[in-house]
Amino acid sequence: MYGLLKLMNAGLTENDQGSDGWVPVVLSADLPVAGVMRAQIDATQPLDLVVWRSRSGQVSAFDNRCPHRGMRLSFGFVRGERLSCIYHGWQYGEDGACRHIPAHPDMTPPASIGANTYLCREYDGVIWISQNADNPPDLPTFGGQGLRSLSVNRDEADLRKLLAETCIPLSGAGETAPAEASIIAENQTSLVLESTTEAASLQLMIHFQKVTPGKTMLHIQTNPDLPVDLRISLSRWAERFRWSAENMGTMVNSWDASAGEMRP
Ligand code: FES
Repeated sequence: MYGLLKLMNAGLTENDQGSDGWVPVVLSADLPVAGVMRAQIDATQPLDLVVWRSRSGQVSAFDNRCPHRGMRLSFGFVRGERLSCIYHGWQYGEDGACRHIPAHPDMTPPASIGANTYLCREYDGVIWISQNADNPPDLPTFGGQGLRSLSVNRDEADLRKLLAETCIPLSGAGETAPAEASIIAENQTSLVLESTTEAASLQLMIHFQKVTPGKTMLHIQTNPDLPVDLRISLSRWAERFRWSAENMGTMVNSWDASAGEMRP
C-alpha cells in the first residue's frame, strides 16, 4: 500500500485499485454527450471495456464485446439512451439489457440477452469504473479542472517515482523556468503534485490507469480557472514528462532560457 503523505488538501483516502477498487478511465470533459470510447485496464483479469455517455448525460461501462457476434461495442454509436452495435444494430440500455434488434423490430428481446456491465461513477471531473458492487465509492476529491489524459509506456510505479523528481511550469510557455514540485498526497489511484514559489503556487492531481503491463494512462487535473497560456504550458510539460519517462528513464530538468524550454 502507498503511504498517505497528506490527506486534507486533496481528500485522498485509502483505496484499492484493480479488480476490487475504482479505476479512473477518462476525464469527464473527454467523453461528451453521445460519446463512445474504449478503455483497457490491467487488473487481475485484464479488462477491455466500452465507456459511453447517453444523450441525457448518463455514463455506463460494458465489456467491449457485443453479445450477438462479438463485435467491439466501442465501434458503436449512441442512439438516445442506448448504445447501438455497429454490426447488426442491436441496441443496449444503460443496464446492459438488449432493447432492440433491428431484424426483429416487433420482438421484445429476451431478458437473457445483455452486455456485461460494470459500476460506473462520474465524480469530481473523472469517470471511474469498478467490478465490485460491495466496494463503496471512496474517491479522491480535488475540485480542479481536467487538463488532459496521456498514455505513457512505463509502469505506474516508475511514473510515481519520476513525478517526484519533476519540475512543473508556473507561468505561460517559455516565460520562466519550471519550479521543483513535490508529491503532497498519494494513494492507490492518484497523487497530488504541488509547486510553490513566492510568486505562485500550483497543484496537479494525477490519476493512474494501468492499461497493460508497461503502459499507463495518466489523467491530469489542475487548479480551476488557470489562464489559457499556463494550461498550454502544462500540457507541453505533460508531453515532455512522457518523453523523458519513455526515452531517458529520468527527468529532464535543465532549463534553456534562450529557448524557453527544458533540455536534456
Ligand atoms: S455483433 Fe453486434 S449486433 Fe451483431
